[in-house]
Amino acid sequence: MTNKPTLQFVEDLARRAGKILYDNYEQDLVIKYKGEIDLVTQVDHESENFIINEINQNFTEHKFLAEESGESGGISDHLWIIDPLDGTVNYAHGVPFFCVSIAYSHKGEVQLAAVFDPMRNEMFSAERGSGASLNQKILKVKQSEKLKQSLLVTGFPYDAWHTKSNNFDNYEKLGKLSQGVRRLGSAALDLCYIAAGRLDGYWELSVKAWDVAAAGLIAEEAGAKVTNIIGAKNYVDTPVSIIAANETLHAQIFDALSNS
Ligand code: IPD
Ligand code: CA
Ligand code: CA
Repeated sequence: MTNKPTLQFVEDLARRAGKILYDNYEQDLVIKYKGEIDLVTQVDHESENFIINEINQNFTEHKFLAEESGESGGISDHLWIIDPLDGTVNYAHGVPFFCVSIAYSHKGEVQLAAVFDPMRNEMFSAERGSGASLNQKILKVKQSEKLKQSLLVTGFPYDAWHTKSNNFDNYEKLGKLSQGVRRLGSAALDLCYIAAGRLDGYWELSVKAWDVAAAGLIAEEAGAKVTNIIGAKNYVDTPVSIIAANETLHAQIFDALSNS
C-alpha cells in the first residue's frame, strides 16, 4: 500500500469498528470511571485497539492521537485522530446515539474523515477539497439566516459541576434566542448533523481533538464555517472549542457567545 490512505480505507475502518459497537450494544458492559461522571467501557478499548492495529498493519510509520491510549507512534507527518466510541454515556445507558470517528491528518491538516453511526448505518465522510457525503449522497449545510428559526445543538464538559466555563449560561442564552438547543451526547454526530442540514448550528466549549477532527472536516466540506470559540480557524488544537454553522448563523452564535 502507498504511504497515504484512501477515503475508502478510512470508511472501511470506521464501518468495521462500528460493527464492534453494534455487536456489543446492550450486552454486558464493563464500566470504569475516568472521572466523576466520565466513563469508559471495554468496547471503547476494543474498538480503539482494532482501529490502531489495522492502521499499523498498513502504515507502519504513522502516529496516533486516540482517546483511550493517547499519543503513540514515532515522528511522522501522518497522524490519525481517533475517537473509538463517541457518545459513550449514551452507549452505556442503551441510548442508540453514538459513533466511531476517524480522522487522517497530514502535516497538521485533516485530509480524510469518516464518522460512522452503526445504529442507522450512516457513513458520514469527507476528503479535503472534494465535498462531504452521507452514504454517497452529497451533504450541504442548511442556509437558515435567523437564530429564531434555527435548531441548535451543544454539549457540556464532564467536569461541568466544577468548572466556571460549564456552558450553562450559553445554553440558557441561545435557548432563548433560537428554536431550541438539543443535547444529543455525541459531538461528532452533532457536527455531522450540521453537515447534513438536520441541525442549524453547534457550539461546545471544551471538547477534545478526537471529538471534532473528523466531523469538523465533514461539516466544512458541506459548507459550514467551523472555528473555535474565539473565531480562529484552528478548532483541533488544545484548548479545543468549536462553533459550526453556515456563515450567517455562525456570526450570530459567535456574537451571542462573545457577549455572555
Ligand atoms: C463526549 C461526547 C459529548 C460531548 C463531550 C465528549 P465521549 O465524548 O462527544 O457529546 O459533549 O464533550 O467528551 O466521552 O462520549 O467520547
Ligand atoms: Ca468523544
Ligand atoms: Ca469516546
